[in-house]
Amino acid sequence: MTYTTLYADTLAPEATYRLMSGIVVPRPIAWITTLSLTGVVNLAPFSCFTFVSNKPPMLGVNIGRKAGARKDTGAYILANGEFVVNIGHRGHMHAIHESSAEHAPDVSEAELLGLATVASETIAVPRLADAPVSMECRLDRVIPFGDTGAEFFVGVVTAFHVREDLLQGGKIDTRALDPVCRIAGPNYATLGEIVTLRAMAQTPKTVLASEG
Ligand SMILES: Cc1cc2nc3c(=O)[nH]c(=O)nc-3n(C[C@H](O)[C@H](O)[C@H](O)COP(=O)(O)O)c2cc1C
Repeated sequence: MTYTTLYADTLAPEATYRLMSGIVVPRPIAWITTLSLTGVVNLAPFSCFTFVSNKPPMLGVNIGRKAGARKDTGAYILANGEFVVNIGHRGHMHAIHESSAEHAPDVSEAELLGLATVASETIAVPRLADAPVSMECRLDRVIPFGDTGAEFFVGVVTAFHVREDLLQGGKIDTRALDPVCRIAGPNYATLGEIVTLRAMAQTPKTVLASEG
């Protein structure tokens, strides 16, 4: 087997992005609603997304810049301290993609795409009415990374809204969720085969760091 070795310090930022977005796959998609300063619902997808804590539940999403300026989502999260991470399903794939188109700050991508929103319960930012899962979040911290102005936004989840048929004994029915993930560029994937292996004995996760 032969390999190509690319030395990181010889790569331009765009080349590195192309490489990493093709390597770190598949990525789940945080479909984020925020409120603009004039109260318009902003919607955009972000796939540099994960969770970072379960007590309290915390999510993290990496938001880059457009020509050096913060994207609307990042600017509105900073301004209001709140956002909703919605999870779309297979039927949302086109809307997820289209919601990444650039619009003037006060254009609502949710409205343009005909996606209804409903009021959240713990924050002012509405969630997508039709999303199988939505998580209301309050901003906890913003961590800058690297030289391009990328920022990792971490939020504490204050409420989970889960479509009723998805929850079974506190677990999510992944097949029924039917999530969409992003691979490189305008390419998406849905779930393939799910393989269930033997359960591993695990040390309890719930010991708090302060007690450890
Ligand atoms: C599926 C998908 C995932 C994306 N993930 C990210 C991401 O993780 N970080 C990022 O900065 N931009 C990401 N983008 C690009 C943003 O969605 C895009 O820049 C969008 O216009 C931002 O909207 P806003 O200015 O309303 O925040 C992604 C685009 C798509 C289609």
